[in-house]
Amino acid sequence: MTIQTAAAVKPRVPHPFPYQGSKRGIAAQILPHLPINTRCLIEPFCGSAAISLACAASGRVQRFWLNDANAPLIGLWAQVLERPVELAARYEELWRQQLPDRKAFFFQVRDEFNRTHEPHLLLYLLARIVKGAIRYSADGRFNQSPDNRRSGMQPSTLREQILGVSTLLATRTKLTALDFRSVVTEATLDDVIYMDPPYQGTSFTRDHRYFGGVSYDEFVEVLQGMNDRGVSYIISYDGRTGDKKHGRSLPNRLSLQHLHIRAGRSSQLTLLGHARETVESLYLSPTLMDRLHVEGAGAASDEHKSKQPELTFEGWMRPSRRTSRRWVSGDR
Ligand SMILES: C[S@@+](CC[C@H](N)C(=O)[O-])C[C@H]1O[C@@H](n2cnc3c(N)ncnc32)[C@H](O)[C@@H]1O
Repeated sequence: MTIQTAAAVKPRVPHPFPYQGSKRGIAAQILPHLPINTRCLIEPFCGSAAISLACAASGRVQRFWLNDANAPLIGLWAQVLERPVELAARYEELWRQQLPDRKAFFFQVRDEFNRTHEPHLLLYLLARIVKGAIRYSADGRFNQSPDNRRSGMQPSTLREQILGVSTLLATRTKLTALDFRSVVTEATLDDVIYMDPPYQGTSFTRDHRYFGGVSYDEFVEVLQGMNDRGVSYIISYDGRTGDKKHGRSLPNRLSLQHLHIRAGRSSQLTLLGHARETVESLYLSPTLMDRLHVEGAGAASDEHKSKQPELTFEGWMRPSRRTSRRWVSGDR
């Protein structure tokens, strides 16, 4: 008989769809900065919600609030959580229909999505687009092209992933499609907000990379307001690859703890023969630092480091039992 020790069991973290800018790769380095008594983890810029999923899989936090300004994306999240079986079946239908002309079929689905905003169509588009990178035109139409080398995730794999996501989050997650400012004002002192805003300089009107957009000055002003209210938060913001800096650092006057996280090598640059490492900034708010110190789990202590959860993001073992209670608005 093999006895599994706790250390041998790594929580597996499912993911719902490919998403450019996903923090899956560095989630294990972010999680230790969440106090153990966190009531609710709030992600105002959730995208594919890699941090909430990693937290839920490791059992660190019990309640979640996922928000994104992109309303059709939140519509997709609602289906992932509430109707994963039906969603997976509709994805499979599209995936099979795409043969023999995947390219033409993609554009057909894209047109239909722009008319209807139906969640299963968005799921198919996310699975097929270049680097999972959402792009919208100035008039708000989804205009990203397909990656013609790939067919999109196999239906059986996708089914397993979204069932896993639903099992982890369905009963304890609130979903909203608001501007991030309306979300952060609702946080209580026991919550933690994790913010991963769109890459600086991207906005809905300028380069159409993301829905919404947040200017540096506006963002800093919101953070100052959060400091004044004593709200705990963590931010992923600027970074660098080799000598190249991405974005502007947050100002000293916010009194944030500035950490650097190794995010691995850029695969594009490695292909070109320039193996440069990417380092991302992580900022911790003053109140969050106080909470971590009180817990005796300050970000820099050895004890704190030893609490880093071991997570694996390859595949997902489906649990034997699924819960199906719907999330209730305001229930967090
Ligand atoms: C860098 S992505 C977040 C990626 C996420 N951390 C993940 O793991 O997938 C930024 C997200 O912010 C959303 N967004 C942009 N402007 C916003 C705003 N003003 N309020 C709320 N969400 C916004 C975008 O739609 C996008 O999904």
